[in-house]
Amino acid sequence: SARRQPVPAADDGSPGASGGTALAVSLIVPTFNEAENIDELLDTVSAALPEGLAVEVLFVDDSTDNTPEVIEKAAARYAMPVSVLHREVPEGGLGGAVVAGIARTSAPWIVVMDADLQHPPHLVPELVAAGESAGAELVVASRYAAGGSRGGLDGGYRMAVSGVSTKVTKALFPRLLRGVSDPMSGFFAIRREAVDRAAEAAEAQTDAGGGLRPLGYKILLELAVRCRPRSVVEVPYAFGERFAGESKSTVREGLRFLRHLAELRTSDKRARMVVFGLIGVTGFVPNLLALWALTSGTSLNYAVAEVLANQLGVLWNFVLLEAVVYRSGRPGGPGARLLGFAALSNADLVARIPLMMLFVEQAGMPPVSATALSLVVVFVLRFLLVDGLVYRR
Ligand code: GDD
Ligand code: MN
Repeated sequence: SARRQPVPAADDGSPGASGGTALAVSLIVPTFNEAENIDELLDTVSAALPEGLAVEVLFVDDSTDNTPEVIEKAAARYAMPVSVLHREVPEGGLGGAVVAGIARTSAPWIVVMDADLQHPPHLVPELVAAGESAGAELVVASRYAAGGSRGGLDGGYRMAVSGVSTKVTKALFPRLLRGVSDPMSGFFAIRREAVDRAAEAAEAQTDAGGGLRPLGYKILLELAVRCRPRSVVEVPYAFGERFAGESKSTVREGLRFLRHLAELRTSDKRARMVVFGLIGVTGFVPNLLALWALTSGTSLNYAVAEVLANQLGVLWNFVLLEAVVYRSGRPGGPGARLLGFAALSNADLVARIPLMMLFVEQAGMPPVSATALSLVVVFVLRFLLVDGLVYRR
C-alpha cells in the first residue's frame, strides 16, 4: 500500500526530501525548555541522514522559554522540513505531546526521540531500516538489549528506580511486552498503520482500550499496549549524557507513571472485571461493620439493617472503582454515576432470588450450587451493566 514505501538504502542515488520524494519518516521530538539543545540536535540528525531518506522533524513544544523561536530560526538551515507545534495547554505532558505530533504528521514511519541528545540521533535511520528489513511494526531502541547501556542515568538512585519499574511493567504485561526489553524507552520507531489501527478499533467498539490516552513520560508503553504492534524488533543503544540543561523528570512524574500503569492494565474488559471483583470483595468489610453497628444494642430488624449496611459497601466500592479502574473518561457527573452504580448494586440482591428459584426449580440444581451460580451470574451481569451503562466502556 502507499503507506509501505521502502526506505531507500544509503547510497542508491535517489533524491532526498528536497528532491520531492514522499516522506518516509516523521521524527517527533517533544520539548520542554530545551533551547540550548536544538542546534546540536538538528545538526546531528541532518548529518546522520542517508541520501534519499526523506525525514520531516516536528518538535512538539510545551516550553516556557524561547525554545519555539530557536527552532523556527534554525529550521531554515536544513534541507529537511523542520517545524514546531507549540501547545498552549500541555495536556498529557510528554506523552500527550507525542500523540499531538502523531496527529499532525503523515509519514509511514514515526520516530520518537528526546531533544537532549541522550538518544543518539545517528540511530534514527537505523531504527527505520531495522523495522523495514524485519517487516516489524515497532522498533525499540533498548538500553537493556545486548550491546546497549544506560550510563546516562545520573546516579544509582535513578538506575534502581528505572530497573525496578522496568521489571514490574514487564510482569504486568507479559504477553504484550514479550520481546521488549526496554518498555520505558523514550526512543523508538513505529509504523503509522499500527497507530491508525488502534484509533479505528477505538472508534468501532466502545471498549476504551483502543484510543490513546497517554499520561506523562511512558508513551512507548502506551503505544505497545494500546496498538498491539504485530511484530517488534530492538536496536541496542547507549543512553548518553544530556547535552545541555536538566532532566524534566520528577517524583510527580513517577506517581503519574503509576496511574498510567493502573489505567493501561485495566484497559481491557477482562482485566477490569477481575479488579472490579477484587474491589467488590473488599466491600464486605464496611458492609459487615455497618451491619454490626446497626444491630448491636438496637432492635432494628436485621434484614432492614442489611439493606442499609449494604449501602456503605456500595459507596466504598464506588469510591475505589472511581479511584482505580475508572479514572479518566468518566461520563456524566459523579452524582449520576453513583446513583446508577447504587441502583445496579441493589438490583442484584433482588435479581438473585428469582434466578436461584429458576436454577432450583427448572434446572433441578441443589440450592447451594444454585446460590453459587446465581452469585456468579449476577456478579458478571452487574459488572457488564456498570461497565457499559455507567461508564460507557
Ligand atoms: N512537550 C513536552 N512536554 N516535552 C517534554 C515534557 C512535557 O511536559 N517533559 C519532558 N519533555 C521532553 C524534554 O524536553 C526532553 O526532550 C524529553 O521530553 C525527555 O525529557 P527528560 O527530562 O530529558 O527525560 P529523561 O532523560 O529523564 O528520560 C527520557 O529518556 C528515558 C530513556 O529513553 C524519557 O524519554 C524517558 O521516558 C525514558 O525512559
Ligand atoms: Mn533526558
